[in-house]
Amino acid sequence: MSNHSKSKTGPPIVGVSKNMERVRELIEHVAHTGLNTVVFGESGVGKEVVAQNLYQKSPRFGKPFIKINCAALPEGLLESELFGYERGAFTGAEQKKKGKFQLAHSGVLLLDEIGDMSLPLQAKLLHVLQSGGGFSPLGSEKEVQTDTWVIAATNHDLKKAIDEGKFREDLYYRLNIIKIHVSPLRERPEDIPLLIDFYTKEYAAMLNDRHIEKPSAQVIDRLCVYSWPGNVRELQNVLKRMLVLGDSNQIVDELLNGERTSSPTSEATNGPNQQVSLTQIIDLDGKNSPDNQSFSLKSAKKEAVEMVEREIISHVLAKTDWNRSKAAKILKISYKTLLYKISDLNIIPPEK
Ligand SMILES: Nc1ncnc2c1ncn2[C@@H]1O[C@H](COP(=O)(O)OP(=O)(O)O)[C@@H](O)[C@H]1O
Ligand SMILES: [Mg+2]
Repeated sequence: MSNHSKSKTGPPIVGVSKNMERVRELIEHVAHTGLNTVVFGESGVGKEVVAQNLYQKSPRFGKPFIKINCAALPEGLLESELFGYERGAFTGAEQKKKGKFQLAHSGVLLLDEIGDMSLPLQAKLLHVLQSGGGFSPLGSEKEVQTDTWVIAATNHDLKKAIDEGKFREDLYYRLNIIKIHVSPLRERPEDIPLLIDFYTKEYAAMLNDRHIEKPSAQVIDRLCVYSWPGNVRELQNVLKRMLVLGDSNQIVDELLNGERTSSPTSEATNGPNQQVSLTQIIDLDGKNSPDNQSFSLKSAKKEAVEMVEREIISHVLAKTDWNRSKAAKILKISYKTLLYKISDLNIIPPEK
C-alpha cells in the first residue's frame, strides 16, 4: 500500500477555465518557495495533480514524493505510518520502520484528506511543523530531523471544521500559508472537451492496438451539461467506458437520464426536448386550466417563459451549429449560464 515513488510525475494541468489558469499561475509562484500549502476541492477535481505539479516544478523534483491518506487509516496506524517506530515500540513492531515524514525527507509529503486527521495527531503534526521537522519515532528517544515540504489536501471546509471543534485553528494557519482552490468540474464545463481530448489520447496509447475514436462533438456537447459529481475521476471512468464499449450515445443518455430522475425539480417534461406549445399552456381545458387544482398564473407564466427561452436558445444553437460560446455571445448571456440553461431546459443536441 505504499504510495512511495521517486520522481513521480503526474499529468499536466489540463484546462482553459479561469480556475485552471489561476491554479497554474499559483503553482508557478509557489513551487520554488516550499511554503506549506493546502489544496482545497471536491473529490476527484485534481488536488493530487496539483500537488504533483508543485513538486515537479520545485527544486525538490527527483527527491521522494510521498503521499498518505489521513482518512484511510485508524489513528494509531496513521501515527506510526507518519512518524515511524523503533523495534518493540508496540506489540507487533518487530522491526524498526521509518515513517513517511522521514521517507519524504528532502522531498514532498502530501497529506491527503487532512481534514479527517484526529485531534491528537493534529497536535503532534503541529508540533513537528513548529519544530522545523524534528520528532521522535514511536518508542525512540532520539529525535530525527527532516526537511520535508508538506502539502495538504482536503475536500472539507476547514474553517467550518474549526468552528465545529474538529480541526485545530493553529494547525490550519501553520499549514495554510498558500491556499489553492480547485473548482468542481461542473463550474468549469469549458475544460471538459480538453480533458476528453487529453485522456482519449492517453487511453488510446494505453490500450495500444485498439481502434480508439474520440466521442462525437454531439456526445461531447452533452457531456458538458452533465453535473459530474465525481469530477475528473468520473469523467475518466465514463470516457474509458465509452472508448471500450463504443456506445457513447447510450452511455451519455444514461448519465443525463439518471441525473434527471434523481432531481425532483426537473420532472416538468415527460421527455427530452418535449415541446410545449403556447396553446397547451393556456389550454383552458387541460392541465393549465384555471379550473385545474394545480393551476396558478405564476406556474403558467414560468412554463411560458421557459418555452420561449427553449425556442430561442434552440434556434440560436442550431444557427451556430451548436457552437456554444458563439451562441452565448449572440444571446448576450455568459457561457456558463447558457450551459446551465441547455441542461435545465432539456435542450438536446440534434442527431448528426
Ligand atoms: N486538470 C487536470 N488535468 C489532467 N488530469 C486531471 C486534472 N484534474 C484531475 N485529473 C485527473 O483526474 C484524476 C483525479 O484527480 P486527483 O488529483 O486524484 O483528484 P483528487 O485528489 O482531488 O481526488 C486523476 O487521474 C488526475 O490525473
Ligand atoms: Mg485524491
